[in-house]
Formats: sequence, C-alpha cells, structure tokens
Amino acid sequence: MMRWHKWAALAVGLQMMVWIGTGLYFNLVDHQRIGGHQYHQQAAEPTWSLTQLVDPTPLLEQYAPVIRLTLVDRAGHPYYQLEHQRQLYRRQAQTLTLVDAIRGDAVTVDRAMASAVARASYRGPGAVSEITALPPHSAELPKEENPAWRVAFADDLATVVFVEARSGRLIGHQNRHSREAALMLKLHFMDYANTGGFNHPLMWTFALFSLALSLSGLTLLIRRLGSNLSHWRARRVTLHTPAGAQKLRLAPRQSVLEGMQREGLAVRSECGGGGSCGRCRIRLEPGSPISAAEQRFLSQRHLEQGWRLACQQYGD
Ligand code: FES
Repeated sequence: MMRWHKWAALAVGLQMMVWIGTGLYFNLVDHQRIGGHQYHQQAAEPTWSLTQLVDPTPLLEQYAPVIRLTLVDRAGHPYYQLEHQRQLYRRQAQTLTLVDAIRGDAVTVDRAMASAVARASYRGPGAVSEITALPPHSAELPKEENPAWRVAFADDLATVVFVEARSGRLIGHQNRHSREAALMLKLHFMDYANTGGFNHPLMWTFALFSLALSLSGLTLLIRRLGSNLSHWRARRVTLHTPAGAQKLRLAPRQSVLEGMQREGLAVRSECGGGGSCGRCRIRLEPGSPISAAEQRFLSQRHLEQGWRLACQQYGD
C-alpha cells in the first residue's frame, strides 16, 4: 500500500502544483487585460426606424411554428428572429429563421454578414484577414452547440471575433491575452479533453483518486501510530553488569537475550534461547517474573538477588 500511496501522492501533488500556479496567475493577472475586449466596442445605435419594417404578423404563419419573435440588430440592419424551439441558454442548439425586417425575406448568416457583424463590434487597427466556418463544439468554442464563423483580424493582439452562424449573434472576442487565460483555466480545471468546464469524467476520476489517496494515507497513519504506541509501551529492563546498570528496551514478545544480541551485548548461550542450557544468566531488578526454567537453573538466593535467564525474560 505504501508504494501505491507514494505514486498516487506524486500524481496528486503535481496537479496541486498546477492548481496553485494557475490560481496564483488568476490572482495576480490584470483581469481587464485577459478579457479579450481590447478592441471590442458596443454596437452603434440603430439608424433604421420602425416605420421601415414589414409587418411581422404574416411571418408567424409562413414560418410556423414560431414560439417567439424578436427584433434584432445585426451590423446596423434590422432582422426578425423567429424561434421554432425553446432554448434554455443562448449557446444551446437552436432552430430559428432570420428574416430581413425591411425586405421581409429569409436570410442565412453567410461570410459577408458574419464579417459585417464582426467589424461592427471591432474598433482595432486591423482588417479582416481570414473568415473560417466552425462546427458546433469546436476546439475554440467547446461549449457552443451551434455552428459559428471565426473572423480573424490582422492586428497586434491577433484578435478573433466569433459570430453565431444561425442567428448572427456576436459570441465574443478573443485575443492572445484571453487565449493565455483560457489555457490557464484549462490547466486549473484539468480540462485536458477541452470540454469547456470542470464537470467532466477526468475530474470525477481524479476526485475519487484523491479520496482513495486520503483513505490510504489515513490507514498508513493509523498503522504507524499503532506501531509507535507498541514501541512506546515496550518493556524497559535494567541490566546489572560489572560495569554498572544498563537500560535495555524490549519490543513486545522480544526476549532480553534477543534485545542484548540486538544491542551487541555479550551474553552466553548454548541452547539458542531454548531455556535448556542455563548459560544466559543476567541480573535484573529483583521483582522480575520467574519462569520454570529459571527455577530449575537458579538458586532461591540468586533469584531473590534478581538473577534470571535472558532467554526467559520478555518484553511483555
Ligand atoms: S540460552 Fe540456554 S537457557 Fe537461555
């Protein structure tokens, strides 16, 4: 168990270092800088008026079923957004129809429209350098369930603007600072599979792994405490030798003979501790217990003086 515990502690310890390092990063970093909004601007006030819009009532029947109709502005142009299915949150996969609110015809969010939406939200010095279509759950937008357009700008921060490809909604801006923060967040959440969050199977496994590590550590601690307790409770005897009194600590079930041999103390023995040769005579405190072998080999006077057989005296 000790071997397993050490390797598990190494794995958990490494991830702990990653948590601490990335946690420190988020405590110390400038949050304005990592937001990715350096070149983001709010949408301009609409220049169109309601009198320009077609009556939306026929659209409800034409594109039925419609559970919600919303008038939205995309890059300064009005659109009716007809939702056919209820959404719990904006990144959830949706079925909708986008209708030009001035002309009255359905439109799709193509490259040109995505570029216009991105440019309307951008106030940096760069021009659009590349427009790429992204599938749902792409590496850059793992939680986005709808396809999106990726509009890159040639500026000093390598800004990228994401536009949702069904509704034309602006998803957000990213740049090299926000990508750096995203990487740190990924490490902090152990999101190595790029799920976009921290509630994923690897995290569950790691949590169980950490729990097993804690339990094995607790088990080892209890064992170690038990061992230390036995050590603390070990019997101590005092050997009286011609050179003076000498303390000897004995582990449970260990004989004085074994204790002396362990400490390198000279003691005679011909029977190997079997209690049959009577050679391992030592002198202890007079009150020490007396075995049958000691009564056989030692006189009453010697017993009263504390003489015993080293192989017959035990630690408990
Ligand atoms: S070693 Fe033989 S009696 Fe103790």
